[in-house]
Amino acid sequence: MAGLAAIVTPVLTSAAVAYGHELSFMLCFAALLLERFLIQPDPDRRTAILLVIVDVIYGIAALSLLLSGIARVLHFGQGTAFYTENPLFWTKVGAYLAVGALSLYPTITYILWAIPLRKGELPQVSQSLANRLRWILNIELVGFGLIPLLASLMARGVGLPVA
Ligand code: HEM
Repeated sequence: MAGLAAIVTPVLTSAAVAYGHELSFMLCFAALLLERFLIQPDPDRRTAILLVIVDVIYGIAALSLLLSGIARVLHFGQGTAFYTENPLFWTKVGAYLAVGALSLYPTITYILWAIPLRKGELPQVSQSLANRLRWILNIELVGFGLIPLLASLMARGVGLPVA
């Protein structure tokens, strides 16, 4: 019985971490898509607050995506070297960091909205700011759409130097 538990527990833990990674990805994508469709010039109070909340969810999911990814590299994957020796892995990490850097602009914009919202006022969002945010979100969505392709290739050893 104890022997069975010793085999099953690591498998279930690894599956849970893998699921956490995939769920975080789904949450990130859903949050970005929602932001993409909610963003508009001079949003009403409800939309502005919703955008702030959705961006917080995005931030938490992006952090969980990173932490579960690191856990897979270090403990629950195919061995750390299997990833770190593959340039596709680093391309994936680079794409994640690039998307993360891009998301700073919308995030800082929403954080600044907290000031008027607290005073009961509405944030001023011009048409050009709304367009810019929409474009940034479009690029982030394409990035998030492409990263799983890099992940699928990397998971199958594509990109590893031939021995
Ligand atoms: C720095 C951040 C990340 C790290 C360190 C990381 C690491 C990993 C690792 C180690 C695996 C397991 C591969 C295997 O089964 O051997 C994996 C799988 C996967 N990752 Fe990530 N990941 C990161 C970010 C992301 C992001 C941003 C996405 C999506 C946008 C993503 C999507 C996936 C998917 C879909 C898989 C499953 C691939 C498959 O088994 O076919 N990862 N990741």
